[in-house]
Amino acid sequence: MTHLKCIECGTTYDIDEIIYKCGKCDGILEVVTDIEELRNKISTDKWKGRSLSVWRYIDFLPIKDKINIVTLNEGGTGLHRCKRLAEKIGLKKLFIKFEGENPTGSFKDRGMTVGVSKARELGVSIVICASTGNTSASLAAYAAKSGKQCIVLVPAGKIGVGKLAQAIAHGARLIQVKGNFDDSLDMVFQLCERNNQIYLLNSINPFRIEGQKTIAFEVSEQLGVPPDCMVMPVGNAGNISAAWKGFNEFEAVGLTNSKPRMIGIQAEGASPIVNAYRKKKIRVEPILFPETVATAIRIGNPVSWRKALNSIYESNGYAETVTDQEILDAQRLLAQTEGIFAEPASATPIASLKKLLDQGVINKSDSIVCVATGHGLKDADVITRVFGKPIEVEADIDAIEKSLNLLVKYDRWLEEPSST
Ligand code: F0G
Repeated sequence: MTHLKCIECGTTYDIDEIIYKCGKCDGILEVVTDIEELRNKISTDKWKGRSLSVWRYIDFLPIKDKINIVTLNEGGTGLHRCKRLAEKIGLKKLFIKFEGENPTGSFKDRGMTVGVSKARELGVSIVICASTGNTSASLAAYAAKSGKQCIVLVPAGKIGVGKLAQAIAHGARLIQVKGNFDDSLDMVFQLCERNNQIYLLNSINPFRIEGQKTIAFEVSEQLGVPPDCMVMPVGNAGNISAAWKGFNEFEAVGLTNSKPRMIGIQAEGASPIVNAYRKKKIRVEPILFPETVATAIRIGNPVSWRKALNSIYESNGYAETVTDQEILDAQRLLAQTEGIFAEPASATPIASLKKLLDQGVINKSDSIVCVATGHGLKDADVITRVFGKPIEVEADIDAIEKSLNLLVKYDRWLEEPSST
């Protein structure tokens, strides 16, 4: 039977128990899928007729009754072959899985459709999360769709304006916490402890991970086989763990014969997982004051650190950091060579590729999938702030032509960025 299990001590729990951490050792939980049962379910091949989406894989997901599904049509995102970008970096088979194509513009929707469906199945009426922005935008939308109240706590002044706008527009009760994401998540835990009517939907909730694992299924089907390497940004460390779970399950039921190396990328100023990996540790030391332009992954104490490290170690993967400048350069390069506008956190995999290639971590003939986790419009501010503002010219054809000539002459598109 599919059940919940503590990843530290192995204690098991019923799939319908509302619990986020192990009662015995405080470890985090995962859904253990009954592989035999799953093999039987998918043997009819009926699922292969469904379109590419999270719910194509309903047999892999721990939702008992279809009637409870809360969906905005998530998943089914494009896997873009990036020839121009690959050439610039010196690779042969580079793909971007663009998760910005999801309904609220990030991969969080994969997890939220399952998490909020589970919330409906459990009969809870209030949902909550702490967030660097995307989780709150997604939860607010799915809560609205399912008629639930939604509370979100975000680090004050440190989330992209687009994300804030989404949470507000969808009617979430939003509190800006004077502190960072880690402080906000701590407050959320405490609120849930004080009030058991509030259901926690951060990625510590194992049903979120279940939805997010479908990215591995989609990538495997889109390519025909799993890639050699899956390069992903790491923040609270749920998504890389989810993808790894997905690749394992697809292999366990016999749909694939290989698994990719999982490569986790963090910003230099917020890199607890990379630090642990470099020291070959099995434990993560939190960073008290994480800082990076990639606010989505500005996290010092990732809750799913154990799962993420397991994914990296078990897959013979790797972990690397990138600087803020490398992130912004990669964001621009992706947008200007492939037409894909991703937010800074989502550009971290691209930012790492040259380094990974130079260090011999990846080979130029490897098939590489970089996950671009969220849409660039989420954090449009960063573009004008960092790259500069468009120039303003009178509606006079001579003035326009003169300015255009100057922009071409100096190979510039914008004014110089301001220092603020
Ligand atoms: N990329 C984006 C765009 C994100 O928003 C996040 C996390 C990540 C990558 C990292 O994923 O946490 O699973 O390792 N955003 C969370 C949020 C923390 O609150 O929106 P992770």
